[in-house]
Amino acid sequence: MFYQYIYVYFVLIYARMKLKIIKDTNPIMRKKSLPVELPLSKNDKDTLDAMLDYLKLSQDEEYAEKHHIQPGVGMAAIQIGLLKRMFVIYYQTDNGPVEYQIVNPQILETSMKKCALEQGEGCLSVPNHHEGLVHRYYKIKMRAYEALTGEDVIITAMGYDAIVLQHEYDHLDGIFYYDRINANNPNGKMPGEEII
Ligand code: NI
Repeated sequence: MFYQYIYVYFVLIYARMKLKIIKDTNPIMRKKSLPVELPLSKNDKDTLDAMLDYLKLSQDEEYAEKHHIQPGVGMAAIQIGLLKRMFVIYYQTDNGPVEYQIVNPQILETSMKKCALEQGEGCLSVPNHHEGLVHRYYKIKMRAYEALTGEDVIITAMGYDAIVLQHEYDHLDGIFYYDRINANNPNGKMPGEEII
C-alpha cells in the first residue's frame, strides 16, 4: 500500500512536470493533427495516461489553486504540442466518472438538433473567456479506439457528453470553441436549439 502511494505520487509529479499546456496564440494549435499508429505504442499510451492524470489533478481545487492551473474536463494531444489525433476526457457525474482515452475518432452521425451550454465553454488553452453560445450537435455517434479499455468503440452521446466530445474533436482539426460563437449575435439561440 505504501509503495503504491509513493508510485502514484511520482507518476503525478512526472505528469505535471512533463505537460506544458500550449495556448491558443500558438499557431501549432491551428494545425490538423495526424492519425495515430495502431496498435498504440507504449509512448502514446503513457502520454494519454499523463494527460488523464493532469485532468484529474486539475479538478482538485486545492491543487489547482496552488499550482495556478485551471480545471479541465478534456485535453487533446495538440494542447501539449503533439499533432496526434487523440484526446482524453474526465468528469464526474451522478452516475460516476466519465473517462475516455480516445484515439483516431471519427464522427459517424450527427443530429439535426443543436445544443449549447448556457454558460458558454472554456478551454485549457484559452486564458480569456469568450462569451457566447457555442453551437454543437445535440447528439453524435463517434467511432474510435478507446485506450482505457483497449477496444474499438462506438459512442453515442447526447447533451453535455456530446458537447465535450465535439470540443475535443475540434482540437484535432485546429478549431477553437469560440470559432463556433456567432460574433454578430453571441447569445442568439438557433432554431430548436437546446440550452443546457
Ligand atoms: Ni479545449
